[in-house]
Amino acid sequence: MSNLWAQLRGGVRRTSRKSNEEKENQDPPNNEEKELKDAHGNTKAELFGISAESEFRTHSVHFKSLHSEFKTPKDWTLLKGIGAGAYGMVAAFKDTKTGKSMGIKKITRAFDDLADGKRILREIKLLGGFSHDNIVGLVGLYAPGGPDFEDIYICIELMEMDLSRVIKSGEPLGEEHHRWMTYQILLGTLYMHSAGVVHRDLKPSNILVNRDCTIKICDFGLARGSVLSVCLGGETGQHDPPNKKLTEYVVTRYYRAPEVVLLASEYGHSIDVWAVGCILCELIGRKPVFKGKDHLDQIEQIINVLGSPSEEDLSWLKTSSSACRFLALFGEKPAKSWEQLYPEASPKAIGAINAMVRFHPAKRPTSKECVRLPYFEEVYRQEDVVLREQPLDWSFDAFVPTRLTLQERIRAECLRIGPPIDAVDQRGGDRNLASL
Ligand SMILES: Nc1ncnc2c1ncn2[C@@H]1O[C@H](COP(=O)(O)OP(=O)(O)O)[C@@H](O)[C@H]1O
Ligand SMILES: [Mg+2]
Repeated sequence: MSNLWAQLRGGVRRTSRKSNEEKENQDPPNNEEKELKDAHGNTKAELFGISAESEFRTHSVHFKSLHSEFKTPKDWTLLKGIGAGAYGMVAAFKDTKTGKSMGIKKITRAFDDLADGKRILREIKLLGGFSHDNIVGLVGLYAPGGPDFEDIYICIELMEMDLSRVIKSGEPLGEEHHRWMTYQILLGTLYMHSAGVVHRDLKPSNILVNRDCTIKICDFGLARGSVLSVCLGGETGQHDPPNKKLTEYVVTRYYRAPEVVLLASEYGHSIDVWAVGCILCELIGRKPVFKGKDHLDQIEQIINVLGSPSEEDLSWLKTSSSACRFLALFGEKPAKSWEQLYPEASPKAIGAINAMVRFHPAKRPTSKECVRLPYFEEVYRQEDVVLREQPLDWSFDAFVPTRLTLQERIRAECLRIGPPIDAVDQRGGDRNLASL
């Protein structure tokens, strides 16, 4: 990590955004390649979707204390294990034929838990349905092992690290960095929201970052449709197995908005805005702002900083609810000032935190309003605001997951998306990875 932010210290640079025209002129991923046939007459998509074992090569991937065997097409070499989360292990690979690198997220035994299997399908559908500079791009999908496959490999643009690592690194980050990173997170979030999608798990380890300060949001496993998309498409989560309620999964504790902690079943775009506010605090303070030891402690931590919520702040809670009675236990607590908590932060940074980290969900600005906050004045450009033309159609989610229905749908995605011919070699690629 030695010279990680050398370029940044010299000033944050914008990477040039592709014009819409350039984007439109790009070939849709893999369409032509799908028709390529191998010596046995199988199309390439078939090879990747339901291929024979012999087409693959096995790599032993290590990340921290974890280990997993990754299968890849024969020409790919392993660069290194780069991450692991609750559901997947991620490694960097290089296609020696094209010289391009990519990240591969392997989901092992994807159908052991049906709710998890459905989450993976959602992640694939969302990644495939998004096209935004600040959201990690899907470059391929394959599932070796024949029709009864168990493991799924999602190929994504390779980034150099995630934000949790940057925050923990101790490398100096100035306001310029905080602002530019948060701004990009908001642009990605705004695009998602325009698609009618709530991420629900925005946190530093789900924000990928390159040395040039480019940010991309990843990990859409917990994402859901917002009310808008529920009206337009299928109701998301409706067909999930009953033992796996949404509440169990919603957002990693430290970044949970009060309405998620207290109600759990209610969620809207504003929970992502809360999480982005918490991430900005963490960038500035280099530690989570609300580090609850458990569910209840989380709300206490929030109240310790924001003070006891007023009646108006709680208008979304039924006064008779157990959550309301629980809140009353804390008595009257005064609010701390953000200036005291973050004495180094500029007044505009404090203003942005104050706006986003609000108890009442409706009082938080929308992601669209966030990018216009005075804090982002210096970086805001109208053309940065890219919205999805239409909300995402969630009708794909309206089915009862069984091993078979999931396998069928994921295999169909493998055939549709195909092999990662267009793997993206991000700036710095292997050179930077080698020095991580
Ligand atoms: N495209 C990528 N480039 C670099 N690192 C990545 C990439 N995707 C994921 N990672 C790393 O792998 C970790 C786990 O990936 P993630 O998609 O969040 O899986 P999970 O659903 O298991 O949390 C991330 O926190 C990040 O550190
Ligand atoms: Mg994750």
